Amino acid sequence: MILLSVPSLTADQWLGLVHPVLIILFVYPVVGATIRLGILARERRLDLNPIAPTVPVEHADHGRWVTGVVVLAMLIGMAHDIATAPLVAGDSHFAPLVMAGAGVIATFAALLRTRPTAPRLAWAFSTWLGLLLLGSQPGVVRGADWPWQSAFWQSHYWGGIALSGLLLLSMGLQGEIGRRPKIRRLHVGLNLVVALLLATQAISGTRNLLS
Ligand code: HEM
Ligand code: HEM
Repeated sequence: MILLSVPSLTADQWLGLVHPVLIILFVYPVVGATIRLGILARERRLDLNPIAPTVPVEHADHGRWVTGVVVLAMLIGMAHDIATAPLVAGDSHFAPLVMAGAGVIATFAALLRTRPTAPRLAWAFSTWLGLLLLGSQPGVVRGADWPWQSAFWQSHYWGGIALSGLLLLSMGLQGEIGRRPKIRRLHVGLNLVVALLLATQAISGTRNLLS
């Protein structure tokens, strides 16, 4: 019998596991429920399935949780990148970065509290811009920054930016999705891309763990 000892992890490595564990334990299961509730909301609207009127509301609630935790997990992933990167003279200072992270959380909280579509879209866009601002810091692993570079398409960071942008857009448009058929079709189409991005994030994220 061969006994293999489990390698012990440093505190840094344990902290690096917070992001993937949060995504695996919370985001993927709740996305499954969100997709199922979305399909049920559609069946209800088309009179194919006589289910409770709370289903579309539950779908949007689940979607909000998924978006919120994706934003939080991205902040944690980027913070870990920045904290563990070797320090170079001229690198950004700690305090402005913490303020930018707090700004992302504050704009997301404002999005949750706002009803009319225009300001919701503005808060959603501000949250996404905050993520981009933090992602532009030295230390954050982006792969490549331009679409004509192949590393761009393999980048876990840019996949996350696209995914969070689409989820935040759904949150911004929430009031219109139920009301306007064109927006609803756009919502379903864009969220098929979200489902695809969730799969590619799982692949590039586990690849990150191996490297
Ligand atoms: C995994 C991501 C998501 C998927 C796959 C998805 C899918 C769907 C589907 C299939 C419908 C039914 C469309 C129809 O009736 O033809 C729907 C409706 C809707 N979705 Fe999503 N969605 C997602 C995320 C979100 C998010 C993040 C929000 C915003 C918080 C949201 C808000 C809504 C709303 C408000 C409706 C309309 C419900 C109604 O009929 O009143 N969804 N979605
Ligand atoms: C919703 C899906 C996900 C999103 C939006 C996301 C987003 C991000 C972002 C923005 C970063 C920082 C930039 C970078 O280092 O690439 C990151 C880092 C990372 N992600 Fe993800 N990720 C997701 C899923 C996953 C999964 C499923 C895993 C692994 C099972 C994973 C593992 C990692 C690892 C190992 C890092 C390096 C982080 C570090 O230094 O702490 N991610 N992720």
